[in-house]
Amino acid sequence: MKVTVLGANGMLGTDVVKVLEALGHEVKALTRKDVDLTKPATINDCKWLAKKNADWVVNCIAYTAVDKAEEEPEIAFDVNEEGVLNLCGKLNGGSRLLHISTDFVFDGTATQPYVETDETNPLGVYGQSKLAGEHYSEAMLDDPIIFRTSWLFGPSGKSFPLTMINAHNAGRQLRVVADQFGCPTYTVDLATAIASAVESNLDSGIYHACGSERMSWHEFAERVLSIYKDEEVRLDKIGTADYPTQAKRPAYSVMNNSKLAEAGINPWRPVDSAVEEFVERLRRIHQVP
Ligand SMILES: NC(=O)c1ccc[n+]([C@@H]2O[C@H](COP(=O)([O-])OP(=O)(O)OC[C@H]3O[C@@H](n4cnc5c(N)ncnc54)[C@H](OP(=O)(O)O)[C@@H]3O)[C@@H](O)[C@H]2O)c1
Repeated sequence: MKVTVLGANGMLGTDVVKVLEALGHEVKALTRKDVDLTKPATINDCKWLAKKNADWVVNCIAYTAVDKAEEEPEIAFDVNEEGVLNLCGKLNGGSRLLHISTDFVFDGTATQPYVETDETNPLGVYGQSKLAGEHYSEAMLDDPIIFRTSWLFGPSGKSFPLTMINAHNAGRQLRVVADQFGCPTYTVDLATAIASAVESNLDSGIYHACGSERMSWHEFAERVLSIYKDEEVRLDKIGTADYPTQAKRPAYSVMNNSKLAEAGINPWRPVDSAVEEFVERLRRIHQVP
């Protein structure tokens, strides 16, 4: 397949390019200097978004600063809403779009894992802007795929596990939120799911594309540090109220990924083995000692 990856230097985009190339696809990896979603001319002029050069466009671009978005909503909406609108205008009738969205479209009041048809109700600007991007993809294109993912971690960006390792190495006493629950998702596994969608010409629609294990940030941090240190690490628990942030976060953003599994896409390895590979890669690129 000919696949154009947008946001190719982001945390997810980097691994999407690697996985697609490893599988033998013809990949065009584009960064902001090639296509800026807030500059329609860069989209219109980009030959790698034309049907003849791309069977698929995988959009890993997003404004992802969840807290900062509360201060600068116009920038978040420019990228995550208007930017997607601009992109869809170009792709209409052309290459298929696989767009990435987020668990933050939900308000976290559910008591069982969210399915794709559950009502959305984002709590903050980031989630609102991402939801608006979903709506544009669905409204403007005949057959878009939207993968909602959550709690992403990979070696090419700022992630929660890396923050925990750095804080631990800096000798900080870690207290971690234990009353927010979600599903950690390793970028390589999500990239593998994306490749499978492309290869199988997956039906259009929204899919929850996240790891299969549900846990709190506290449990995730303990697991990461225990693997990193190769010994059991115990951390102090705190509640959301003890760790105020600018943006409100869903207390429960666990998503049910069985719709994707039923379509034959189920690449999610256990969190511990994903973290082992993640830590190994961080060490290889000298991100952590
Ligand atoms: N990280 C998570 O925990 C998480 C959770 C759920 C969903 N997601 C979704 O997963 C996707 C990938 O996230 P990520 O964590 O890989 O994000 P990331 O590391 O922040 O990467 C975002 C990419 O978007 C690019 N970008 C931002 N604004 C742009 C613009 N106006 N034009 C062109 N490129 C622009 C960035 O380029 P520069 O490097 O030039 O800034 C970067 O390459 C996003 O859709 C995000 O909403 C992430």
